[in-house]
Amino acid sequence: MPTQVNRRWLIAKPLEGILSEANFRWAESPVPKVGEGQFLVHNRWLSVDPTQALLLRAGDPPGSAVPIGESPWSLAVSEVVESRHPDFSPGDIVHGEMTWEDYSLTDGTGFNPAFRVPDGVPLNWAAGALGLTGLVAYFGVHEVAQPTAGETFVISGAAGGVGSIASQLANIYGLRVIGIAGSPAKCDWLLKEAGVDAVINYHQEDVGRRLTELSPDGIDIFFDTVGGPILEIALERLRTGGRVVLCGITSQYLANSPTPGPANLVQLIMVHGRMEGFLGRDFIPRRTEAFEALLPLLRSGRLQSKEDVLVGLKEAPKGLARLLSGENVGKQLVRVDDPPGT
Ligand SMILES: NC(=O)c1ccc[n+]([C@@H]2O[C@H](COP(=O)([O-])OP(=O)(O)OC[C@H]3O[C@@H](n4cnc5c(N)ncnc54)[C@H](OP(=O)(O)O)[C@@H]3O)[C@@H](O)[C@H]2O)c1
Repeated sequence: MPTQVNRRWLIAKPLEGILSEANFRWAESPVPKVGEGQFLVHNRWLSVDPTQALLLRAGDPPGSAVPIGESPWSLAVSEVVESRHPDFSPGDIVHGEMTWEDYSLTDGTGFNPAFRVPDGVPLNWAAGALGLTGLVAYFGVHEVAQPTAGETFVISGAAGGVGSIASQLANIYGLRVIGIAGSPAKCDWLLKEAGVDAVINYHQEDVGRRLTELSPDGIDIFFDTVGGPILEIALERLRTGGRVVLCGITSQYLANSPTPGPANLVQLIMVHGRMEGFLGRDFIPRRTEAFEALLPLLRSGRLQSKEDVLVGLKEAPKGLARLLSGENVGKQLVRVDDPPGT
């Protein structure tokens, strides 16, 4: 049983407009005691995800908020340090739902039930490219988009956590990839290292005009991670049998009022198109399939785990703010230990 204090972030006030460290409060408390059916973990890596911002909204959508004074929910890769649970033992490395703290007590249940990370998998990969982020990218491209080599694949948020994996997979599957991203550094990485065929910096370029120039005959797949006006632009250019994969709506997570939906849904009718949303967590029972596909690609270097790592639990609020301001390049992670551990 660890004797250390448990350093934690707690929610101090709900989100109104801009997210900052002022939404959180730093606290220290005793390490919790393990009850029957529970296990205690030492959190090593936190996955920072845009949907965490939704949990800070005061009951919007209703029932979504984490109460003031509680530690923010987070996916994490953690080491089991004590267990009274039949399926988890001290020393196991698990991926599961924890909170922003050194030590979390859990029974392993939740929307994303805890699972043991296979031996030998680097913990940063387990938190990102092989965590929910990788599952979403893999099943979103492979299963929801159902691509055929040679098709044109357009993706928003292309250099983010999900986007960086999905863009590279689309390239590996032989698609023609057009990545949309929000900074020159992101566009550079996509072109020079991720192997995409073309990029559009949506802050500096007219996305519709550039898409028409790059793909005058239209597009086959639009993988949307940010929502908003670019969806309408992509729908307008969807080819017969085109697919729109609705992965996330980062652009809406801080919006104060609902933003209008695309005005041109009729396009789906005209091109016999399909628009489909999906949840990565539904694929957790099939995670082995994703591991078996992604791990060899990562090990061989064909797939890069592009990561944006902040070191130290204290950095967690900054990590979430970076996602919402677009500063992160690749998967935003927080390595909990400072000084550095693994
Ligand atoms: N369906 C699922 O089960 C599932 C699971 C995990 C994640 N997701 C969703 O997938 C999306 C990507 O998640 P991630 O973890 O990989 O995050 P991410 O893409 O690494 O980070 C968010 C990115 O969104 C862009 N962005 C931020 N604010 C924006 C705005 N107002 N308008 C347009 N773009 C904005 C920024 O990129 P730019 O600089 O390029 O704009 C930023 O880097 C999120 O919407 C997330 O909720 C869905």
